[in-house]
Amino acid sequence: MRSIVVLNPKGGCGKSTIASNIAAFFALQGKIVTLADCDPQGSSQDWLEIRPASRDKIVSAPLTKNSLQIPKNTEVLIFDTPAAIDDERLNKFLSQAQTMVMPIIASPVDIRAAERFIKDLFSLKGKINNKIKIATVANRVREDTLIAAKLENYLQNLTLPNGKKLPFMTMLRQSQNYIRAAEQGLSIFEMAPHKTYYDREQWEPLLKWLISSKSLPSK
Ligand SMILES: Nc1ncnc2c1ncn2[C@@H]1O[C@H](COP(=O)(O)OP(=O)(O)OP(=O)(O)O)[C@@H](O)[C@H]1O
Ligand SMILES: [Mg+2]
Repeated sequence: MRSIVVLNPKGGCGKSTIASNIAAFFALQGKIVTLADCDPQGSSQDWLEIRPASRDKIVSAPLTKNSLQIPKNTEVLIFDTPAAIDDERLNKFLSQAQTMVMPIIASPVDIRAAERFIKDLFSLKGKINNKIKIATVANRVREDTLIAAKLENYLQNLTLPNGKKLPFMTMLRQSQNYIRAAEQGLSIFEMAPHKTYYDREQWEPLLKWLISSKSLPSK
């Protein structure tokens, strides 16, 4: 089973938006997808509840009393995670998923928080010896702003304590398309192509990575 966690303890960086769009992408590819909403706020669960029955099915696995029921036939499992996550739960996600996608907002506060989290993550990752593959995604980017350029530069040059670069996948712009899609239980891949052309293009590198062996733990 393919397993992907969307994680960043910073609130509102786009975890639920990105998790639901990744889930829809795989569902559109004909995969049996489960979206596990591990956040008591339940944004992904709400999105699944309004998702039209006519669309490619995404199975829900809501969090009940801290346990998740994942259907056995799941081919792709996406975890949407809560903000302000504690180390114990963070450990759990890191050991359950093959791949982690970390959305980061282009703001000085968010960039600094991301830097701290990545440092913590790697001390934790060292401890649990997990082979999870991690990549960052800049989200809600207002292009042509100084901070967007700064974020891109920072993410492109992010070096891990082991000396390797942390892959930076793409910049997703701030767009009403995400909000309109979410309101209808849809992804941007299910909206009019001429209106979402640019957003789809921005997703390409991330999707390519997610379907390649580069995002899988090395053997
Ligand atoms: N690229 C984008 N363009 C425009 N709006 C966006 C974009 N990404 C996310 N949003 C909006 O920003 C808000 C926060 O996004 P989202 O709920 O996905 O973040 P989150 O990280 O899951 O938040 P939380 O930490 O509270 O779970 C939502 O209203 C969402 O619709
Ligand atoms: Mg959320």
